[in-house]
Amino acid sequence: MDYQHQPVLLEEVLAVLQPQPGQRFIDATLGGAGYTAALAKAVGPKGLVVGFDLDPLAIAAAQEKLSREKLSNVLLINDNFANLSAALTERQIAGPFNGLVLDLGLSSAQLADRSRGFSFNQAGPLDMAFGPDSPLSTAEIVNHWTESKLRRIISEYGEEPWAGPLAKAIVSRRSRQPFVNSQELVEIVQTTLPSKYLAKSRQHPATKLFQALRIATNQELDNLSAILDQSLGLLCLNGRIAAVSFHSLEDRLVKQFFLRESRDCLCPPEFPICQCGHHARLKIIYRHPVMASPAEIAANPRSRSAKLRAAQKIV
Ligand SMILES: C[S@@+](CC[C@H](N)C(=O)[O-])C[C@H]1O[C@@H](n2cnc3c(N)ncnc32)[C@H](O)[C@@H]1O
Repeated sequence: MDYQHQPVLLEEVLAVLQPQPGQRFIDATLGGAGYTAALAKAVGPKGLVVGFDLDPLAIAAAQEKLSREKLSNVLLINDNFANLSAALTERQIAGPFNGLVLDLGLSSAQLADRSRGFSFNQAGPLDMAFGPDSPLSTAEIVNHWTESKLRRIISEYGEEPWAGPLAKAIVSRRSRQPFVNSQELVEIVQTTLPSKYLAKSRQHPATKLFQALRIATNQELDNLSAILDQSLGLLCLNGRIAAVSFHSLEDRLVKQFFLRESRDCLCPPEFPICQCGHHARLKIIYRHPVMASPAEIAANPRSRSAKLRAAQKIV
């Protein structure tokens, strides 16, 4: 099975995680198994990589790739990374781990799969779920959520300045005929946004709406918060977290988590004495996020918006 995905910032992620023979890592977003295969090679037969993905197609393709490459030190788990700790406990996989990596969002294989509805370039059903057991689908959101909820997610997750008119147009169109296919959403964008704005837009005008709907469908921000909260309990002393994000809200969540966990006291500045008793558990590795080099961006335009943040457990 061919599951195309060119990993982003791979060298930089390996430079942060510094995998050594015999060590144990978690790749919470397996995708095309680019990171997992590189980590598995580095930790060798005495090490272990646990790869998570919600998408059973990613799991099946990774299984094939790893056996082709004769990498038997990998354990694949088809689950939401928000359930990371419970899934490991259930399988009696003991920690701690030397590192955890996250490469957020969707893979190129998912984007290219017409049947998933992720792409505004080809007609597909309104699904956009990373896994088949998703409690939500994009069809449910566009056909049933209130106008104000639609406006909020389009504005917040899509950073779309035309969120209000788009939410209104979606609600008006669905009262006549429910949405069934991704191209109907593209049409809504094209008929709602002013032609001057459409002409000036450097990206496809439906990019922001599709991004918002994907994030909402997969509850991406809640899942990210859940895994960050569990991450420190899974790492050994000096263990590292590397997180690659493609969206400012994800990047902000990672940045704020790292900042909070790298501070000794979280009390408001006007408190003369610490009352929270919080102690720093992380050291931030890079003050500013690492971005892809011009050469990587030229070879893989998807890397343009990638931001890598990393931190190390200190207690
Ligand atoms: C950008 S791709 C990862 C690519 C990977 N680093 C590689 O080297 O090929 C992101 C993957 O994360 C998966 N994913 C997204 N959210 C998830 C979640 N909450 N739990 C598990 N997997 C998730 C997606 O299904 C997708 O396959």
